[in-house]
Amino acid sequence: MLEYAIVPSSLYDSVIDHLRVNFPDEPLNASVGLCVHGKPCPLLECHDMKTMQDGLSIMAMDKKTGKIAGVALNGISIKGDTEKAIEEMKSIDNLQYRRIFGLLNDVNLELDLFAKYNVDKIFEIRILSVDSSYRGKGIAKELFSQSEMIAKQNGFKVMKTDATSLYTQKVAESNGFHVEKAVNYHDYKDENGCKIYDTQPPHLHYKVMAKLI
Ligand code: ACO
Repeated sequence: MLEYAIVPSSLYDSVIDHLRVNFPDEPLNASVGLCVHGKPCPLLECHDMKTMQDGLSIMAMDKKTGKIAGVALNGISIKGDTEKAIEEMKSIDNLQYRRIFGLLNDVNLELDLFAKYNVDKIFEIRILSVDSSYRGKGIAKELFSQSEMIAKQNGFKVMKTDATSLYTQKVAESNGFHVEKAVNYHDYKDENGCKIYDTQPPHLHYKVMAKLI
């Protein structure tokens, strides 16, 4: 039996423990090797903590075992955040982090959903993760649907997600999100013509997906 609730600050560390074990499977991370199963990943964990502090993240908790079955880390994106992130990236010398967030920031800067939908803030589903022993049971879909309820309660007009996995794209689509932009990972090459993102099938595209609520 699963219970869905806002992640309380007392469980932030438990969520980080869950992510250390389960999030490294995310296709973009798996392709560049930013995080390794079971090990701390300080740059990403800083991003996770800041997101949880917005107070909009949802967890699915197994009531019988007390285990975190899955999480949607939801943050508030403010107009100008992408430009700020690109500026901050200049002082981060971790190549793997730059490769992941460099791609996401560039695509989002070009899209500029704030201008497109004339809003100052967007509800962003930033990190979606389900424990490997609970996958394929619709938990991610329910985390999306619970996130939408929270977004509505908090007066947001637009939700978005950087769907780096085909499975997240399916979850988003079934929750009424549409594709704002899709890029093919294998189109990105380094100066030697080698793929920068060698993602494994079926994860061949990164899609920015949004929903007006
Ligand atoms: N093989 C084939 N299809 C799958 C698989 C699989 N292994 N896993 C999920 N799917 C499909 C489901 O069939 C379903 O599609 P449908 O609507 O067509 O039936 C859809 O994906 C969603 O299924 P759920 O059961 O709701 O997803 P789940 O609870 O298993 O969680 C998740 C999906 C979060 C992507 C999980 O696999 C995971 O934690 N992966 C590692 C981390 C990751 O990649 N996170 C997403 C990155 S993007 C982001 O964070 C915003």
